[in-house]
Amino acid sequence: MSEAVSRRSAIRLLAGAGAALGAAGCAPSVPPGAGRGTAPPAPPAPAAGAPGAEAADGAARVDSLLERLTLEEKTALLHGARDPAPLGQAGYVPGVPRLGIPALRLADGPAGVRVATPATALPAPVLLASAFDPALAREYGRVLGREGRALGLDVLLAPMANLIRTPYAGRNFETFAEDPRLTADLVAEVIRGIQDEGLIAAVKHFALYNQEKGRDTVDVIAAERTLHETELRGFEAAVAAGAGAVVGAYNKVNGVYACESGPLLGEVLRGAWGFDGWVISDREAVHSTVAAISAGLDVEMPGATHFGAPLREAVRGGSVSQDTVDLAVHRVLSTLDRFGLLTDRPAARPARDAAAGARTARKVAAAGAVLLRNERGTLPLAGAAARSIAVIGPTGQVPFVSGGGSAHVVPDAAAAPLAAIRQRAGNGSTVRHALGEDLYGRPLPPVLLRPPADLDDRRLEAGRTWSHEGTFTLTAADEWTLLVHYTGQRPSVRLDGEELFPVRQGVAEQFAGGLLGTAPDGMAVRRRTLALKAGAHRLAVSARGGAAGQRFRLRLTTRASRAADLAEAVKAAKAARSVVLFAYEDATEGTDRTSLALPGGQERLIEAVAAANPRTTVVLNTSSSTTMPWLSRTGAVLQTYYPGQEGAGATADILFGDVDPGGRLTQTFPADEDATPFGGNPLRYPGVGGRQEHTEGVHVGHRWYDAQRTAPLFPFGHGLSYTTWQYEKLVVRPEHGGLRVEFTVRNTGRRKGTEVAQVYVGPSPELKLDQPVRALAGYRRLTLAPGQAQRVTVTIDPRALSSWDPERHAWVLGGGRREVFAGRSSRELPLRSKAVVRSR
Ligand code: BGC
Repeated sequence: MSEAVSRRSAIRLLAGAGAALGAAGCAPSVPPGAGRGTAPPAPPAPAAGAPGAEAADGAARVDSLLERLTLEEKTALLHGARDPAPLGQAGYVPGVPRLGIPALRLADGPAGVRVATPATALPAPVLLASAFDPALAREYGRVLGREGRALGLDVLLAPMANLIRTPYAGRNFETFAEDPRLTADLVAEVIRGIQDEGLIAAVKHFALYNQEKGRDTVDVIAAERTLHETELRGFEAAVAAGAGAVVGAYNKVNGVYACESGPLLGEVLRGAWGFDGWVISDREAVHSTVAAISAGLDVEMPGATHFGAPLREAVRGGSVSQDTVDLAVHRVLSTLDRFGLLTDRPAARPARDAAAGARTARKVAAAGAVLLRNERGTLPLAGAAARSIAVIGPTGQVPFVSGGGSAHVVPDAAAAPLAAIRQRAGNGSTVRHALGEDLYGRPLPPVLLRPPADLDDRRLEAGRTWSHEGTFTLTAADEWTLLVHYTGQRPSVRLDGEELFPVRQGVAEQFAGGLLGTAPDGMAVRRRTLALKAGAHRLAVSARGGAAGQRFRLRLTTRASRAADLAEAVKAAKAARSVVLFAYEDATEGTDRTSLALPGGQERLIEAVAAANPRTTVVLNTSSSTTMPWLSRTGAVLQTYYPGQEGAGATADILFGDVDPGGRLTQTFPADEDATPFGGNPLRYPGVGGRQEHTEGVHVGHRWYDAQRTAPLFPFGHGLSYTTWQYEKLVVRPEHGGLRVEFTVRNTGRRKGTEVAQVYVGPSPELKLDQPVRALAGYRRLTLAPGQAQRVTVTIDPRALSSWDPERHAWVLGGGRREVFAGRSSRELPLRSKAVVRSR
């Protein structure tokens, strides 16, 4: 037997070992009957043959390539090459042209394809999730898949399957929900959608990446049972749906970096779940060569720090075996083969269909919008209230399309809500805008400065420098927000000797917010708020034009300008019959939120505007839950998160009642900051001594509020409709090892409406485990005409009735009399019944 042949057999053995461990060590965690997901479009068949011939051909192709690749070529497939990233994408592997192994282009992300050119900016995944609609998630995935293929990519770094564990986490908008079941359903469908179009989905970030604070180093501690019943559910569903790739997270999990975790990558992912795709590191998330590749990480991104020369040396020195390298290469190549990329006749890339992308973006944004409050018939806008409207807030005028960080997408186009409301209100109506709060600042009056200087829109040619040094004098103490808008290199702005906008290393520098980080004309923006004493201050500004030259402007807001903006908004509110106030909170990867309150002067603005006009609707463009001390003053509150490029039109659809609000919260909104799983206990978030413990165990999200009997502001699953609903006649009976739940949902109002009927299940009396008070077991989104009733059937599968037994390392069915609840939210469950589940 040749060495190459014996090595190949070893690879097969190693690949098979995982599956064996899964069968022997753990109960199969893929639900019975779950297939490998929808296959991507088949590559042009090399030669028609009997069933299975194609797979055999693929295996032979991969084996033959493995035999011919040199060690240099193999390791080159196991890491990214920083340059060139031809499309401005996140990752690039040049391939091995000599053997026809194509270059691979990897890009973000979860809410749209992020490359150097514009793309369809879809609503944030959390807004998609709020629709509770797996079919819509598939459609969303298809848009991502088609755009990705059209824009020249092979792998999409999406979706993000991490749970929303804390409302403070900076990336909550990029992920789906606090509930493991809902997350699992939607992750699977988005992946199927992406891969339906032939693009490889790389589900991220495996695992326990639920906060930005210390993300590179934090050691996240979670018990085996907690892991399986909460965070891992989405990833498990991704594997069952056939995801081609998994992205390893930055953080440590139970003491070991996720990208070198044997328990996670070997035992769970490859062993118990039988994953046979490849594992990519998150950007710069690899910390070692031997430990990482031995644990099962296949590809380092974006460079070659650990898997380039160090890996070759490790092989030559014997600390990493050839088989280990071959196994990683095998996983990469067989995935490429599965997606038809290892053929000399790859499927043609489709053209972009921007119009179809925009249609889906609008549909999702409208479907997910959550009406949190609606008093005194404030919404939908109708009659006189629809003809005399004050639109207030900066994000009424500058559309808030995407969050910040690697999920930020530059859209083809995006209308402002003001324009969409004007258009919908139509001729003969009066729609006025008032800023309320100035996000981008006014020019610094040149006469304020000694010597006078125009710091508004300076342009420097390449290589030129410019500077100003002078003073300005304040007659009274003031609070200023100074802003610098710039292209190219950030100018230096020193006030009384202090640099106001220092360039820092790390993610906080790399990522600015999706709204605040960029001016409407695309210039980068940085802000600094300062308490200034009366008297003279020294200001020094210097700038240098890089290769492409430079533009910058210095702007400010003062106490007086802010008061004027507020007064203007109140005046506009008084003059109109109704008010739509757009409020924002700008989150981004790289930074957690420091407060759940709306930032800046927005709370004051809402109070003042709602006092002037109680027919005020607050539209929230925020990343996650928000505290609302101002709530009782408002007429209505509509949560639209980051609604994507079609957000303006979709928001108008809801405001005017063209679409019934069918979105429901996928996360609990706490009553105040002390009433969250982390409230009043600063040791638990963001962690102590570099450790973050999942002390809430299986009680993540709404389960914690139920377990602690803590009243939320708005519960998980909450969302109002413009019509009214009644739930009737619950029948629960055993079926196929699970439960069949039937009930009637009736639209008792006078409008057509959309409801999300939810089913929760109580604990098993037979299991001696701490179980959720109520776990989401199923749901159904349905649209009914006025007066119409529908019998709804929800099947509770055995998994939804099972708990992870840490002693048996397996799922165990929770037998006995189980309580089943049905209703409109996790806290509004008018129907309940019991049924016996037989565990054997
Ligand atoms: C993020 C990932 C992203 C990657 C590439 C990382 O910083 O955590 O979500 O896919 O960058 O842009």
